[in-house]
Amino acid sequence: MKFSKVPPLKGEITIPGDKSISHRSVMLGAIAKGTTEITNFLQGADCLSTISCFRAMGVEIENEGSRVLVRGKGLKGLKRPDAPLDCGNSGTTTRLISGILAAQDFDVTLTGDASIQKRPMKRIMDPLSQMGARITSLPGNGCAPLHIQGSPLSGIHYTSPVASAQVKSAILLAGLYAQGETQVTEPYLSRNHSELMLKHFGADIRSEGSTASIRPAGELSGCRIQVPGDISSAAFFLAAGLMVPGSEILIKNVGVNPTRDGMIKVCQAMGGDVTLLNVRNDSGEPAADILVRHSSLHGTTIGGAVIPTLIDELPMLAALACFAEGETVIRDAAELKVKESNRIAVMAAGLSAMGADVKETEDGMIIRGGRALHGARIDSHLDHRIAMTFAVTGLCAQGETEILGAECVNISYPGFYQDLKRCVS
Ligand code: S3P
Repeated sequence: MKFSKVPPLKGEITIPGDKSISHRSVMLGAIAKGTTEITNFLQGADCLSTISCFRAMGVEIENEGSRVLVRGKGLKGLKRPDAPLDCGNSGTTTRLISGILAAQDFDVTLTGDASIQKRPMKRIMDPLSQMGARITSLPGNGCAPLHIQGSPLSGIHYTSPVASAQVKSAILLAGLYAQGETQVTEPYLSRNHSELMLKHFGADIRSEGSTASIRPAGELSGCRIQVPGDISSAAFFLAAGLMVPGSEILIKNVGVNPTRDGMIKVCQAMGGDVTLLNVRNDSGEPAADILVRHSSLHGTTIGGAVIPTLIDELPMLAALACFAEGETVIRDAAELKVKESNRIAVMAAGLSAMGADVKETEDGMIIRGGRALHGARIDSHLDHRIAMTFAVTGLCAQGETEILGAECVNISYPGFYQDLKRCVS
């Protein structure tokens, strides 16, 4: 797919549902009693992987497009699947489902695509094993396929070396089944969708600072979940609006949970004209419309506690920094190396190929903005966020930018290219 300079972006765009919240709504719906009705569910490949895993364990799930009905089986109502569960490309499916499977009275194998088989699973295997889980990496390298033999679990207090919502959530889900209290402390608070949604389903959970604590549940109760638009998808339109001269876009219905809104804050700190309108609350999750206008930007430093709140937006922020005057430093972001691709290496290579001044560091990048970019051939490495980042960057580069493997956007945003085209006046 090819991209080149465009006229200003104008008008309104409604962003598809949040990926993290969509996954969790199916998972909790499946192990709750009664029906869970989910609206604005994200029909991305990752969330469909979660649906297919729970269907394979006997959960009836009606997917009617943006509305999904999950007929919950209760905490102990899942069935042993007949074949290995295929998590596709989805780290969230693999890691969160492991927390649930660790406590069932059957065994199961979890697998996924080539990318998922390279991603680190030891980070969940270690704490779940401490709780009593029997979980092994079949290739013996700490990666999937994983074999999980369900076992009785006991609560632990786990101090996580990484701020990862996937790790935290796997432990909290296992904690639903464990004897006694389970606590997770993170170095910085990561997205808290699991905590908010567990509470919504009736779990005995509380949070204090970067520690979440859960006690075993009687049963969770099915409920209604209204999924807000995904701020990680909105990020591409936010950046496009700031970067393409003359643009003004209203991005409607975006989740602005403070554990996810770092991109907005950083854009504002860089001088971006970004305004939140119509702030509201849907099923315990804050949402708003975001008005963005083209702005002249300056560099900034992005590191520390803000990193988990914008971890998936860092590729787009790195590209945005090329259009800002002065230096932008991204640090404390080594987690980027273990995402769907090594996002530090892939971003540094792609932006350099387009003529940017980017230096790769151990835990981030240093970008000196202000150089005009030119088109290039960019390998997405089948990483959805890389493909979308370079599609947007290509709108501000001289000449043509070609994205290889562009179709991988279906992981989190199947209609992305159509939506982007619609905003070009
Ligand atoms: C996610 C958490 C993040 C994020 C991923 C989705 C989640 O990963 O990068 O896209 O839904 O919990 P980590 O928790 O591993 O940082």
